Amino acid sequence: MRTVRFEPDAAWEHALAYPDCPCHLLLVAEDGGDIVGWCRAFPGDAGEAAVTVGLGLRPSHRDQGIGTAMLRQALDWARRVGCRQARLTTREDNARAIHVFQRCGFRVAGRADDGLLSMTCDLVDLGFPEQGGRS
Ligand SMILES: CC(C)(COP(=O)(O)OP(=O)(O)OC[C@H]1O[C@@H](n2cnc3c(N)ncnc32)[C@H](O)[C@@H]1OP(=O)(O)O)[C@@H](O)C(=O)NCCC(=O)NCCS
Repeated sequence: MRTVRFEPDAAWEHALAYPDCPCHLLLVAEDGGDIVGWCRAFPGDAGEAAVTVGLGLRPSHRDQGIGTAMLRQALDWARRVGCRQARLTTREDNARAIHVFQRCGFRVAGRADDGLLSMTCDLVDLGFPEQGGRS
């Protein structure tokens, strides 16, 4: 999943150096031994019962339910470890991602001038009532 645009921040540096640290979750999707997708849940600021999440699939493996399945797994993990909210940002023209995020319980929390959308998911009563997708 290497990309020239990836510049790890402090949370990524920690996750990559200490993959077994219980403060975060890193998931990968594999196909025939190749990593084809990833999903992360990183802790929010100190004292917050919140996580930030992100995910991505190789183009060849999109629209097969993998992203929905990984995101649901990450949200379930966050809820079980006591987090009350999940957050993410995405581009407001990323219709597929927004569809997946809303299906998993995210709602729009804010819009920035740079085309980025903030979304949050309340984990307290998370039950995935809308079980669409092929996960
Ligand atoms: C966004 C992403 C993670 C979703 O994962 P995925 O495995 O492709 O998603 P799923 O297969 O679980 O679900 C895709 C859904 O989006 C729908 N969809 C596809 N293209 C769409 C579009 N242009 N507009 C709206 N919905 C769209 C699919 O029909 C499907 O919904 P359905 O099951 O109700 O039919 C993945 O596509 C991806 O990696 N995209 C590029 C990176 C990215 O955008 N990451 C998120 C940025 S924060």
